[in-house]
Amino acid sequence: MGWNSWNAFRTEVDEDKVMGAARVLVDSGLAKLGYNHVNVDDGWWLKRRQSDGRLQIRTGIFPSAATGGAAGTSFKPFTDKLHAMGLKAGLYTDIGRNACSQAYDLHSPNLPQGTTAEREVGLEGHVEQDINLYFKEWGFDYIKIDACGLADFVPGSKLVKDQDYRALAPLIDRSAINRTDIGAVRSRYEAVSTALKAARPNNDYILSICAWGMANVRSWGKDVGNSWRTSSDITPSWTSMLHNFDSAAKRPLYAGPGHWNDPDILHIGHEEFDAEHLVEARSHFTLWAMINAPLLVSYDLRNGPASLLGVVGNAELIRINQDQSGHQGVVTYDSDDAQIIVKTLGDGSRKAVALFNRSASPAPVILQARHLKLADGVAIVLKDLWSKKMLTFSGEHAFTLAPHETLVFEATGKRQLENGFYLSEIPGAVNVAVDGTRQAELDPTIHRMIDPWSGTRSSGSRAQYAGWGGAQADATPYGQTLQIAGQAFDSGIGVLSNSRLQVINASAHAWLMAAVGVDDSSANTGQAVRFYVYGDGRLLAESSPVTLGSKATPITANIKGSKIVELVVRDAKSGTTLPVVATWGDVRLVADTAASD
Ligand code: GLA
Repeated sequence: MGWNSWNAFRTEVDEDKVMGAARVLVDSGLAKLGYNHVNVDDGWWLKRRQSDGRLQIRTGIFPSAATGGAAGTSFKPFTDKLHAMGLKAGLYTDIGRNACSQAYDLHSPNLPQGTTAEREVGLEGHVEQDINLYFKEWGFDYIKIDACGLADFVPGSKLVKDQDYRALAPLIDRSAINRTDIGAVRSRYEAVSTALKAARPNNDYILSICAWGMANVRSWGKDVGNSWRTSSDITPSWTSMLHNFDSAAKRPLYAGPGHWNDPDILHIGHEEFDAEHLVEARSHFTLWAMINAPLLVSYDLRNGPASLLGVVGNAELIRINQDQSGHQGVVTYDSDDAQIIVKTLGDGSRKAVALFNRSASPAPVILQARHLKLADGVAIVLKDLWSKKMLTFSGEHAFTLAPHETLVFEATGKRQLENGFYLSEIPGAVNVAVDGTRQAELDPTIHRMIDPWSGTRSSGSRAQYAGWGGAQADATPYGQTLQIAGQAFDSGIGVLSNSRLQVINASAHAWLMAAVGVDDSSANTGQAVRFYVYGDGRLLAESSPVTLGSKATPITANIKGSKIVELVVRDAKSGTTLPVVATWGDVRLVADTAASD
């Protein structure tokens, strides 16, 4: 949580503006609520000094950096000031040689200056040097690492010629995953992660990967960084907010404590999310809170209206976002018109639920106990986290949502599963070690907005982000209802064959139980698969081979004493390229087998 300069000022950032934001964070109480990072985005640099490769800061806009001496410039006085205010300091760089502003903000007064080499301010060739400078010498706590350097400086391009940049054969092709070198992009970020671990062995830093959902980062970001952008840049429009939300909302199993899906910084305070659009601003904030997105406010806090502080300062929603268990909200009712998102809190006795009207018309939304995995016929108490009003119902309750409105409640009731958890209730405890995807496929379910930059100057908006076919909570990898031989499951985990999930058995449950089988939606209809459960590496239970049409097979594993439980599905015979869609129906961790269905 914190503040970022980009949506407020783009490259026209300066020390007064940043310190002004920092002061408001402290004075308004937002810092106490958790907004403690102050992140300087693109625009801070002057050049890379050629005598020793040391980055020089643009002191015209960051005067306190003019420290002189052999170092030339230093951000230490700046980070000292932030630290003295009880805040943390964040900085921006690029994984390639050049940054995004050097491709997209050519009019900017704050672009790096000098020769071609002096303007190479990105990490390429300088990973250790720059990371040590930023984290050991300058005292930053957070780094956002962009990726335009790997995408936009194409040999022979007008940009490279006009600006006299050194070309780099792109490792990321934004419009073609098959022309993107996923492994090379990942290994560059891994090198940064290694340098960071060495620079800050206490692990007291945040690595924010900004590869905009490209290069299959939605699948591997969790293994490399603390957050990873799941989509292109947010713009202050409803349609862009939908697009960015969608890019992260179906990836709950890929996030958890210390590693988060990042649908981008907040655009609250601007255009369709300004003080004249509080319904939309509240929706934007609620959705980011529900999916554990980083909450980085990014408007000019010095001049912001109080009503917006009331939005981003909703302490209850911040508590939901920051809940220590780290379970991202799961979309339990899905449509293009309205969605229901449910997030397990704390020890599981409480849940947060958001009812989200995506459309511009009023939406009828019936919330059912089953959406919450709470028992039917028992009172469910809802506390509205905006109005603070209480509401009690049992079974189901009908709401009518205003256009673009999101209602959000904290819910308590009797849990469907009193003696444990469905794994889809605790996605933060699940690690998708191997998701079984044979090749990166593009996710077609993300809201297709008119591109904010090119408009309709193309044949249309196409799928862009890999990750389709990954593991899903309460749905198949391709977004279908979980179903084995005609038996549908409200709860469960959908995977592909040759996948491996790791589950932290934090509450020391005794049993893992499920009903497993080939999902009725599987396109591979011939292949048999087997399901296996391991506890700390030991095989505990396995199914016989099952094929499409085989009835759901019960599987029960005694996991007493196991810290890590693994759920594996393997093709019975190797050689098929098409994965089998495999369903862990009702998969749950329970204290005893008796009380479970
Ligand atoms: C990219 C990033 C943005 C911002 C700009 C800076 O577009 O995705 O968040 O950092 O670069 O130039």
